[in-house]
This record gives sequence, structure tokens and C-alpha cells, in this order.
Amino acid sequence: MKIALTYSTKTGLRKEFGKRFVGDVEDEDIPPDLFAEGDDLRTINAIIEALQSNHYEVVGLESDDEVYYRLEKLRPDLVFNIAEGLFGDWRESYIPMICERLGLAYTGSSPLTLGICLNKARCKEILSYYQIPNPPFQVIYPGQMDFALNFDLPAIVKPIAEGSSKGIFNDSVVTTLAEAQAVVERTINKYSEPVIIEKFLTGREFTVAVFGNGNNLEILPIISMDYSQLPPGAHAFYSYEAKWVWDRPEKPLQIFECPAQISPALEQAIKAVVSRTFQIMQIRDWARIDLRLDEQEIPNILEINPLPGILPDPKDNSCFPKAARTAGYSYSAMLQRVVELAAMRCGVLK
Ligand SMILES: Nc1ncnc2c1ncn2[C@@H]1O[C@H](COP(=O)(O)OP(=O)(O)O)[C@@H](O)[C@H]1O
Ligand SMILES: [Mg+2]
Repeated sequence: MKIALTYSTKTGLRKEFGKRFVGDVEDEDIPPDLFAEGDDLRTINAIIEALQSNHYEVVGLESDDEVYYRLEKLRPDLVFNIAEGLFGDWRESYIPMICERLGLAYTGSSPLTLGICLNKARCKEILSYYQIPNPPFQVIYPGQMDFALNFDLPAIVKPIAEGSSKGIFNDSVVTTLAEAQAVVERTINKYSEPVIIEKFLTGREFTVAVFGNGNNLEILPIISMDYSQLPPGAHAFYSYEAKWVWDRPEKPLQIFECPAQISPALEQAIKAVVSRTFQIMQIRDWARIDLRLDEQEIPNILEINPLPGILPDPKDNSCFPKAARTAGYSYSAMLQRVVELAAMRCGVLK
């Protein structure tokens, strides 16, 4: 079986960004988190090696302007897609859309599901329709800085369609309306997109990795977060600083516990809401879902990652591989599971 691995490197994203928006971008003019979602070569090589060790022929493809033609020529049996894409809440849908157009089988969710999950507000609107608990929120569009809040502070301000804690800094948690307005303004100006302002839940946080399709789901061991090791004064959440600055391989933070030490009743409640969310959003093959408990200890969905990060080195604290390891899947066995789920779903023979 021939597999094309489609990805977005930081260098590739930077090149496409430069081509479209700013002739020659100086490094110092680019916000340090602009390409935070891009894959580094270590991850790409680890995936290629792991797939090869499972006896697949593998070709790696940058998801750039030419990728359509390369996929058309190559016609792989399966596209293993991890490409983040360039801009907008449709960016993760780029490769899936091309695959749909070319009639190629690919791993993971449809362009529509990827787009909806990337837009945190659209996603929450659908979850609310199905009465899936999620924090109260408002969307603030550019030019609407003079807003009032219809829920209690504290709140957290996030760009509407980013990931990897991009744009979510320690001071994105606000306790007064004036602070909220200042952070909203700063975030809108920096990311040129609407922001979502959400009630900040202070209960325990979890992230849950899932394999499967439809009613046939395998929920991997639940990961819980412990923010007690963050620097003094830091807000207790997974900020950009907590993810990329304070937690370094040479000085790791003990944030994650897997499997989470929780009561059977809470485990049951988390699994139930995760399964229902996976099904409602019509997620395919795999995803990682973030949750936090509200004042009533009810698990609320924070966001859904149908294209989960999969850094190969355990020291990098990447959550999907961590949960998979706890369940007994090596890195290559984890990838093999995704290949098999997608191949089975698409009727692709090995
Ligand atoms: N409403 C909220 N209440 C409490 N913490 C939150 C809330 N929303 C986000 N967070 C914190 O911010 C982190 C990043 O937010 P998230 O929506 O998951 O963005 P990303 O797509 O960057 O992962 C979460 O892991 C959590 O720690
Ligand atoms: Mg998250």
C-alpha cells in the first residue's frame, strides 16, 4: 500500500505566507507564535519511519500550492493527513478537500468537520444545540470593542480559530470588563480574526484521545492536568507559556497524569460526553477532546482537535501519543491504528 503523508512544515507555511502577504518578511517582524502549528522535521521523519516500519511505501508531501498536482500524479492508496494549512478556519480542510476532489482515501475527518471544529464558536453553537455542556461565551468581531458580558467573570479570551495555545497567553484570563476589553482589542489586532470570550472554568481539566468511527469508539486513558507547578502567580491553565515556554525538555513540568486518578463516576461522565461529542461532530478515525469541570463538577467541552498533535518524543508531552502509550500503543502502532481505521472506512485494500 502506498501512503502519502501530507504535512505543513513551519518553513513551508512561512514560504506560502511570504508569497501571499509580504514580499520579504523579516524574521523579527513575524510574531513568535505565528507558525506554532507547523510540523517540525523530527515529527515528519518519525511518522515516515514508523509507517515504513509497518511496511508501507511512504511519500512525504508539503501541503503547498503544488500539492494538488503531486497527489494527482502519485495517486496514493491512502493519504495520511496531518497538514495544518495556512490561514482561516478552513485551513485544515485544504488537503481533505483536494482528496475529495481527486477521489483519494484519506485519514481523519471531512473538510466540513475540520472547519467547524477549528471555529471554536461554530463548534460550541452546535454542541449547545445538542445540549452538550460547554462554557458560556460571546464572539467579539473587529470594530465591536465596546461590549458588555452576559456571564460572570473571570473569563478567557481566545482567537476564534487557532490551536496549539496560539494567542492564549497567561494574561488572556481577565477579571474585569476593562481588562477583557484590552485583551480582546490586543488579540483582534494581533491575529486579525474575531475572538471568543468564554467563562473561565476553574475546575479540573482533562484531555481525552479517541480512536474509531460511529458507535465503535476506543476511548484512550484519560489525561488530567495539574497546574500546581506553573510559576507563582500564573493562572491555572494551559497557556502558550505553559505549553511552549515554561515546559522545556531539559526542565519538564509535571503537568499531565495518565491515566487520570478520578472516580469511576467522573470517568463514566467524561467518557459519555466525549463519545457523544465525537458522534455529533461526525469525527472520523481519531481526535483529542479537551474538557474542564464547571462549579457543579460537570465536564464541559472546551474544544475538539480532529487533527491532534503527535510529537514523537515522550519528553515533548504531546497528549495523543501519551494516552496511546498508556494504552500500550507504540508510536508506530498508534499510526497503524489510524491507517487501519481509515482504510477500513474507505474500503481501501492493503
Ligand atoms: N473556558 C475555559 N475555562 C478554563 N480554561 C480554559 C477555557 N478555555 C480554554 N482554557 C484553557 O486554555 C487552554 C487552551 O485553550 P483551547 O481552547 O484548548 O485552545 P487550543 O486550541 O490552543 O488548544 C486549555 O487547555 C485550558 O487550559
Ligand atoms: Mg486545546
